Amino acid sequence: MTIIIFLILINLILIYFLYRKEIKKFFIKKQIKEVNIEEVHEIFKTNETNKNFPSEDYITKLFIVPNHFNVVGMTSDFEAWILSMLSKISKNIFEFGTCSGKTTYLMALNSSNDTRINTLTLKLSEQVKKKSGESKTAYKNIFNESIYEKFMFTNTKEEEKINVHFVNSLEFDESNFKQKCDLIFIDGGHTYSIIKSDSDKAFKMVKKNGYIIWHDYVEGKRSSRDVFKYLNEINKNKKLFSIKGTSLVYFLNE
Ligand SMILES: C[S@@+](CC[C@H](N)C(=O)[O-])C[C@H]1O[C@@H](n2cnc3c(N)ncnc32)[C@H](O)[C@@H]1O
Repeated sequence: MTIIIFLILINLILIYFLYRKEIKKFFIKKQIKEVNIEEVHEIFKTNETNKNFPSEDYITKLFIVPNHFNVVGMTSDFEAWILSMLSKISKNIFEFGTCSGKTTYLMALNSSNDTRINTLTLKLSEQVKKKSGESKTAYKNIFNESIYEKFMFTNTKEEEKINVHFVNSLEFDESNFKQKCDLIFIDGGHTYSIIKSDSDKAFKMVKKNGYIIWHDYVEGKRSSRDVFKYLNEINKNKKLFSIKGTSLVYFLNE
């Protein structure tokens, strides 16, 4: 009898370790309403004659970064394309979290010549003081992702449009950007205090009819735990939507 109970326990432990992601997903549910990409903006409407084909407006400049380049902290290709699409209709873009500059470069490649992009990042290997109760993995990632001084757009034609601020976003003064931004991408530190501070600033910076987009709204993922918690909380007072097939959440300042 003892052996049977022991074997059952071992099996349960094994099942948990093999399927812990799926188990967590089962118990932790997304609270933000999910929408299809077509509902985000009219530029995402599909082909009139064949609803399942992309319209001409879907064409963007997009590049792939192979895995063996070992670039850290990237969005998926679908997410990168959505940001590229929204950049086409944005004149003033702000990004919390530059990292390798992949999303910054894509936004620059797809926006008009008179678009301005401000992006902020920590200095090389800069540490942020840890607060108790916040995701340890998110703190570790801040350090591991603050490794770039040169970016994918460095020495390209698009660099002219881009202004990089090497600053801790917690100390960043947003007053020059109040109600000026058409598109704000929040993908900096993923700890509760940073995501809250970046978002509070973004809500002041976003223009009428402008978008705030958050990355990494993922249930049951350690590094995104605080992002998930924060967005679920503000979802009670703000009209947020999560985009199907992505980890992106958006707010449209109607
Ligand atoms: C996930 S990466 C951004 C990825 C990038 N948006 C992309 O998709 O190519 C996170 C970035 O946020 C920056 N970061 C983290 N905490 C920050 C803080 N408190 N202030 C400024 N930048 C921060 C890191 O230095 C890093 O550049």
